[in-house]
Amino acid sequence: MLQIEVNNVFKSFKDVKAVRGISLAIPAGQFVALLGPNGAGKTTLVEMMEGLKKPDSGEILIQGKTWHKHEHELRTVIGLSLQETRFAEKITIYETLRLFASFFELGDERVTEVIELTGLQSKQRAMTGTLSGGQKQRLALAVALLNRPQILFLDEPTTGLDPHSRQDLWHILKSLKDKGETTLILTTHYMEEASSLCDHIIIIDEGKILREGKLDDLLDETSRNLDELFINLTGKNLNENIK
Ligand SMILES: Nc1ncnc2c1ncn2[C@@H]1O[C@H](COP(=O)(O)OP(=O)(O)OP(=O)(O)O)[C@@H](O)[C@H]1O
Ligand SMILES: [Mg+2]
Repeated sequence: MLQIEVNNVFKSFKDVKAVRGISLAIPAGQFVALLGPNGAGKTTLVEMMEGLKKPDSGEILIQGKTWHKHEHELRTVIGLSLQETRFAEKITIYETLRLFASFFELGDERVTEVIELTGLQSKQRAMTGTLSGGQKQRLALAVALLNRPQILFLDEPTTGLDPHSRQDLWHILKSLKDKGETTLILTTHYMEEASSLCDHIIIIDEGKILREGKLDDLLDETSRNLDELFINLTGKNLNENIK
C-alpha cells in the first residue's frame, strides 16, 4: 500500500504561490529526499503531508486516509521534526521526552530507548536550554522516534550540524532504513545526505517538481552528480542556499 499520496496539491500565502500542483506517490519503506533552494516550497509541502497545514486544493492521503477524517489515528502513525524546534528550556532532555511520551501513553522504557538510539545518554539530565545545536537536533529526532512511527518526516535535520554530528545522524537513519519498517521524507540542502540515504530524490523549485527518480536515473553526462544536476535544473547552487 502507498504510505503517502499527494494529488495535485496547491497552497498559497496571500500572493505567494508556495506549492503549485505537486503530486507524489510514496510506497512503504522508501526513503525520499526533498531538495530545493530556500523558498522552493519544501516545508510547506511537508507540513501539509504532516497534517499541520491545509492545502488550498488537491488531496493528501496517508495510508489511504485523509487528515480531515482520521487525524487522531494518523497522529499515531507519523513522527515529525520541524525545521526549527523550540523546547521548554528549563526542563531536562529526560523530562522533555517523558512529556512527549505521555501524549502517546508510552512509558519510561521507551524514553530510555530513544535516548540510547540518539546517543543522548550523557546529556539526559541537562536542561534543554543548555544544549548545542546538534544536541537539540538529536533531541528533536528522539521526540520524532518515540512512538515508533511508520512514517517519519524530518525537515532539514542536519542543517547547521558539524560533519561529525551529521554523520552520527546519518548512522541512526541508516539503521532505521536497514530495519525496513519506516518510510522517511527528509528535506535537506546536502547532496551527500540525499544520495547516501535516500532511494528516491525529488527536486523542487518555485512550488513545482522539476525532476524525480532514483539517483542513477537522474544523472547523465551533463549532470554527473546531484550538485551539477541541481545547477543545470535551477541555475542555482544548492550549497549557496544554506542558512
Ligand atoms: N506562513 C507563511 N506566510 C507567508 N508566506 C509563507 C509562509 N510560509 C511560507 N511562506 C512562503 O512560501 C514560500 C515557500 O516557503 P517554504 O518554507 O515552504 O520553503 P522551503 O523550501 O522550506 O525553504 P527553506 O529551504 O528556506 O526552508 C516562500 O516564498 C515563503 O516565503
Ligand atoms: Mg524549509
